[in-house]
Formats: sequence, C-alpha cells, structure tokens
Amino acid sequence: MILVTGGAGYIGAVTVRELLDKGFAVRVLDKFLYGDAPLDDVRTRIDCISGDLCRLDEAVLDGVDVVIHLGGLSNDPTAEFNPEANRRLNTDATRTLAEACKRRGIKRFIFSSSCAVYDRGMMAEDVIQDEDAAVEPRAAYATSKHAAERALLALTDKDFQPTIFRQGTVYGWSPRMRYDLVVNTFVRCAFESGRLTVHCGGEMWRPLVDVTDVAKCYLACIQADLKDVGGQIFNLAYKNFRILELAHWVKKALDGIVPVEIEVEYGSNTARDYRVSTKKLERVLGFRPRVSVEESARHMARKIQAGIHADFHNPRYYNIQWLELLVEIEQHLKRLGSIF
Ligand SMILES: NC(=O)c1ccc[n+]([C@@H]2O[C@H](COP(=O)([O-])OP(=O)(O)OC[C@H]3O[C@@H](n4cnc5c(N)ncnc54)[C@H](O)[C@@H]3O)[C@@H](O)[C@H]2O)c1
Repeated sequence: MILVTGGAGYIGAVTVRELLDKGFAVRVLDKFLYGDAPLDDVRTRIDCISGDLCRLDEAVLDGVDVVIHLGGLSNDPTAEFNPEANRRLNTDATRTLAEACKRRGIKRFIFSSSCAVYDRGMMAEDVIQDEDAAVEPRAAYATSKHAAERALLALTDKDFQPTIFRQGTVYGWSPRMRYDLVVNTFVRCAFESGRLTVHCGGEMWRPLVDVTDVAKCYLACIQADLKDVGGQIFNLAYKNFRILELAHWVKKALDGIVPVEIEVEYGSNTARDYRVSTKKLERVLGFRPRVSVEESARHMARKIQAGIHADFHNPRYYNIQWLELLVEIEQHLKRLGSIF
C-alpha cells in the first residue's frame, strides 16, 4: 500500500492515477483544502482519508509500505501568508510523519522538496547548481522545505531511507488544476486575453518539469533499488528555461488555437532566479523527464477547449487566493456563529 499525502492536490491527483494504472494499492491522506472533487472518478479504487498532517493519526500508516509526501503549502505567497503555519506544516509535520514511518519500519519515503532552495537572489553568480551546492534559502517557503530535507536526512539510517526530490516549477494539466504556476498561467492568459506579459525582461532562469513526469519519476523511485535512492537528494526538472523562452513555447503551442502576443516589461528584477543540474537523476535513477512545455501547453489547451477547468475566475485554481478566501470566511463564520 502506498500512502500519498496531499493526494487530492495538483501533483497528487496525477500521481494517484499513475500508481493505480500500474496496479498499486493507494491510500490518500489529505485535508482537502481545495476540495476532494479531483479524486471523484478514482474514489472507489482508493482508500481516501480526510485528515490533517499537523495532527497526525498514526493509524493512517497501518499496512503502508511506501509514503509519497506531497501534502503542504506549496508556493511563496501561501508560505508568506502565514510563515509560522507554513513551518508547522512543511517542516514540523514532515518530521513527525517521518519519525512515525521510521518507528514502523516504513523505509521508503519520497519527499517533494523544491528547487526554490537554490535561489540566491538576482545578484548571485549565474551557475548551474547540483545537489551538492551549498544552499542558503531565505524565503519562508524555501526555508521550510530545506529544514524538512535536513530533518529527513538526520533521520536516515538502515530503517529509514528517504528520497528527496527538489522539483522545478511544475506545469501541465491535472484533475486538480492550478493556474498559479508560470506555464499554466501563460496558457490561461492566452485564452483569456491573448496576451502574455513577461516582467523584468523575462530573463530569470527557472527549472521546470511536467506534472506527469513528476508522477512517473516517483514511480521510478519506488521501483529502484533502495541502496541507490535511499538518503539521496535529486533535482527533478525537464530543463532550465528563461521566463521569456517559456512565453515563446506557449505561443508556439497555441498557434492555430488562439492568437497570442507577448508583451515584455523591463523593470528591475527581484524575482527568483536559478538553474539546476539534473545529471544525478539520469545517472543514478536512470530517469529523464520527457514532456516538453510545448506538448504540455497544447494538452492543457485541448482540455480548456473541451470546457474542462475553463472557469478561469474560480479562486480554487490560485492557492493564495483560495487560502485568503477560506481564512476570511472562517473569521466571518466565527463572528456570525451560524448563517441561518
Ligand atoms: N507545483 C509545483 O510547482 C511544485 C514544485 C516544487 C515542489 N512542490 C511541492 O509538491 C507538493 C505538492 O504540490 P502541489 O502543486 O500538488 O500543491 P497543491 O496545493 O495542489 O496540493 C497540496 C495538497 O496538500 C493538502 N494539504 C495542505 N495542508 C494539509 C494538511 N495540513 N494536512 C493534509 N493535507 C494538506 C491540500 O489539501 C492539497 O490537496 C508540495 O509539497 C509542494 O511544495 C510543488
């Protein structure tokens, strides 16, 4: 049995389907912050548990052989919205879950970290960073992910062999859609306005990877020899791109579907900027992401044309908007007592 935390999320919903397709038994633990609809069509095939990682009920680990830990707050704005809650979830709850796994002899543990840990600011030297590069994250999100990585590595021994994937920014279609990720945002903008606005000259570098490649990589890791992947960190990306280059790939993908103009603004650059090496992923795990930005953007466009996730104003597609809304409603309901 494979436990996927955050299994109703953007990456989780794709991962769960990939695991089911390969014949694995799957349990999902999720707080369903964005709802549980992304699991509607697989619900009868999985063990679906509503729960909070910050209040872990260890029974969720009964019968589990592998954990894929995706539950968390998943970008800079949501982390900065409440840095303390972000640390409790992304770092402390990860450590607690890992300790429980170790006590129960669950050795295989996949953790979705982020290449954001490599961000050293725009003034830093432009180098391709591998897993051995010294990192010194400053933002709340990257700091919480890096602290979780260190906690996992500190627990590593013969009884607990975590694998950490430092993922690039993910793109592509998922049953739980996010339009707050750069490529997906460009596709959405293309349909909404036909205009892709690129800030700061679009010169920032970012590693990126398609969501189905992420799910396939987890699968490759589960099937790999534990002595090769246990206690290891891997960068997971298809390629490093400049943001302006991404806009051009999306424009090309949507050629003949919607007309697209690219508008470049030249302001001072304070955005995240880093490049990573994926050689270790290929050398040790033998895995290479395959899905290009162009292919992925075209796939998203076909879904949108079919009316799937085409309600772009739905706040659920934008993590920070949705969380702000939930918190506002929570406070309002506390004052109201009840609505009727
Ligand atoms: N999407 C990316 O570009 C990207 C890149 C690098 C790393 N990651 C990491 O991958 C993981 C998954 O990202 P995603 O894009 O699928 O995010 P997502 O926001 O779509 O999904 C996160 C899931 O975690 C669940 N969750 C949140 N708090 C919880 C709690 N307290 N208890 C149980 N479940 C909880 C949410 O309900 C949601 O279903 C995250 O840890 C993220 O940091 C994502």
